[in-house]
Amino acid sequence: KAELQTEQFGQDIYYYDVVDSTQNIAHRLAQDGAKHGTVVISEEQTAGKGRLMRPWESTRQKGIWLTVILRPDVPPHRAPQFTLVTAVAVVQALQELLVQAKPQIKWPNDVLINGKKCTGILTEMQAESDVIQALLIGIGINVSQSEADFPKELQSIATSLKLEEGIDIDRSKLIATLLHKLEIYTALYVTDGFDQIRKLWEANSCTIGQRLEVTTARETFIGEAIGITNDGVLRVQKDDGEVKEIYTADIKIL
Ligand code: BTN
Repeated sequence: KAELQTEQFGQDIYYYDVVDSTQNIAHRLAQDGAKHGTVVISEEQTAGKGRLMRPWESTRQKGIWLTVILRPDVPPHRAPQFTLVTAVAVVQALQELLVQAKPQIKWPNDVLINGKKCTGILTEMQAESDVIQALLIGIGINVSQSEADFPKELQSIATSLKLEEGIDIDRSKLIATLLHKLEIYTALYVTDGFDQIRKLWEANSCTIGQRLEVTTARETFIGEAIGITNDGVLRVQKDDGEVKEIYTADIKIL
């Protein structure tokens, strides 16, 4: 906390040794009235949650497992973009601390280094009669795992900051930097809209300009990522020229 440079984020910190998921704790705290910028951190999660109901590997003290509670004054349809805002904040924070490794964003919510995932972001919303009560921004950063710390099936797709940078990154310093960036960029998004965030997102993405294999609930197709819209929707141009707008999908960079 001594390292924090924020006005609101992390003024209330709930710190745990072990929890099932910081998202679950944050859900309860938000229902009990926790204020904007409240942070829940744990050294270990026994049931870390990923996107699409996937489990999230959260090995003890090897990463940063945290959830930030936001109470933004925006309508619920502006909630999904907070995932992209968070990705921008994570990349900027990592860039400040890493010298060798170059983090990049893979749409919609992964941060990769050298093509492997080092950070995942999960946004959950509590809403009532079309008003956001709270947004729970979950961030998982792999900091100091060795290859053997990851389960076999993840070893070819997951990485840690230590594996890519070669040295240990100070977790407290990274948390402080991350909360600072997150406070700045979420405020920017709420007051000025998505346009500036979109430019930062595109500039730090490894998705735009690439050929992708896109798998949605309905179909799988190949095309080139040409940008994101002001709603954070990915635009992919198929070989026959048709432009598709992708809301949710799994994408593979070819
Ligand atoms: C994903 O890439 O699928 C999202 C992963 C999000 C993981 C973080 S770790 C802290 C917070 N608590 C959870 O249970 N999940 C998020």
